[in-house]
Amino acid sequence: DSSKTHPTIFFIFGGTGDLTSRKLVPALFNLFLDGWMPKHLAIVAMGRTAFTDDQFREELLKDINQFSRRGKADKAKWDAFSKSVYFQVSDINNTATYEEQAARIAKFTQEAGVAPNVIYYLAVAPRFFSTITENLSRHKLAADAERTRIVIEKPFGHDLESAKELNKQLCSIFSERQIYRIDHYLGKETVQNILAFRFANSIFEPLWNRNNIDHVQISVTEQLGMGNRGGYYDEAGAMRDMIQNHILQLLCLVAMEPPVSFQADEVRNRKVDVLNSVRKFSPEDIQRNTVRGQYSKGWIEGKEVPGYREEQGVNPQSNTETFAAIKFFVDNWRWHGVPFYLRTGKRMHQSSSVITIQFKDVPHMIFPSEAVEGWQQNRLIISIQPEMSVRLQVQAKRPGLEMALNPVDMIFDYNGTYTGDTPEAYETLLLDTMLGDQTLFMRGDQVEAAWDLLMPILNAWSGKKSLSFPNYSADSWGPETAEALIARDGFHWFTLPLKNNGHHG
Ligand code: BG6
Repeated sequence: DSSKTHPTIFFIFGGTGDLTSRKLVPALFNLFLDGWMPKHLAIVAMGRTAFTDDQFREELLKDINQFSRRGKADKAKWDAFSKSVYFQVSDINNTATYEEQAARIAKFTQEAGVAPNVIYYLAVAPRFFSTITENLSRHKLAADAERTRIVIEKPFGHDLESAKELNKQLCSIFSERQIYRIDHYLGKETVQNILAFRFANSIFEPLWNRNNIDHVQISVTEQLGMGNRGGYYDEAGAMRDMIQNHILQLLCLVAMEPPVSFQADEVRNRKVDVLNSVRKFSPEDIQRNTVRGQYSKGWIEGKEVPGYREEQGVNPQSNTETFAAIKFFVDNWRWHGVPFYLRTGKRMHQSSSVITIQFKDVPHMIFPSEAVEGWQQNRLIISIQPEMSVRLQVQAKRPGLEMALNPVDMIFDYNGTYTGDTPEAYETLLLDTMLGDQTLFMRGDQVEAAWDLLMPILNAWSGKKSLSFPNYSADSWGPETAEALIARDGFHWFTLPLKNNGHHG
């Protein structure tokens, strides 16, 4: 094999699900188009539907044409790729399923002439994880610690207890270096760039601390509602769905100490340190520094949308939060006294993921007040999506005969700087599973630390049921109390004015 990756056989449990056809297979196809795929490749989707290989390939092609970032597939290239895609009619409770997998691996190994990477991708509901992994183990399908890997989709546990249980169960069969816990945010280009930006430049790091930074905001807002995910979401809510994983990962990247090297465990150690430094939430903090919300019906871009409690699969009396905001502190030398504000919500006015680092004001103002009307403390704005940019907001003299200042942006915009589109998160992450690089995956202790941190809030919230939900309308910026949370400290939530306020992929 002359390609950059080792011969690989992927088994996708949950092969007929949306994730497989909309994300995983398009990502694998793009990796193929970009020349990353080994000559010896098999992608085996597993499911109960009685598809033949050809029927399944046809189904996939429809979704590829619709959902791939490259649009409609080139026929010849699709044919070349899809001959490596198979469908295995299977039942995870059935021994025959695993025997058939073993036979496929044996045949593949013989053709490739070497022991291949064997990657099990669990794109199924968490209640099936233990059945699958135990059966893999029983059938000796997990024995090769070097080449066998398992990829786990979120949610990783429902709380600290279940996450520990799941880690324990997985680790009884696989070693940590075989376990790839996916957080697709970590695969996003703009998210990966946070570490590059911080640690490949000398000019930011000296400022990156409590002496110069006033506060930090991480805001991930979505216009999307439930779609057909109401059943899942009603059990989860914004805290479990977004904060426990994606948003705490962003926090770690912003707040971590410089790792010694870019080696997976060096980076992950420093991230765990951040989670362990977050000040524990006391009942008073929860009362004062957390806000939850739930959307009522409204209008999004001219279309009427239902309230959360009217969504399919949602309990009409649900107290699940579709919005959450939290203020907290990171208790270490770097961040002592710097407030961090997080917020996330569904059915908000804008789909936008932005990290704002606001710097302290100048120590002494030399300009007269009429010169500085739009005065704004310096900000570094890392826009993750839909705009992919880093902006540094500084004051500048407005051209003219008078000394008048206004804030301007120094902009690094991906679209202006680079040509071509950027790979999707799943492309990066799936390639990493083949390369055996765990840097962008969550380690077991990190997942537990994230749960540990949030449990007091989750417990307090579930203990208090009498909420006057809904408390924000679709197309708003969330409940007013979330504005108050930050306004109390003299700040406001920063939003980027967006050119195209569309939904992103
Ligand atoms: C998923 C959540 O993990 O992330 C969804 O379950 C959310 O509720 C999605 O919409 C957001 O991802 P992205 O890439 O669109 O920001």
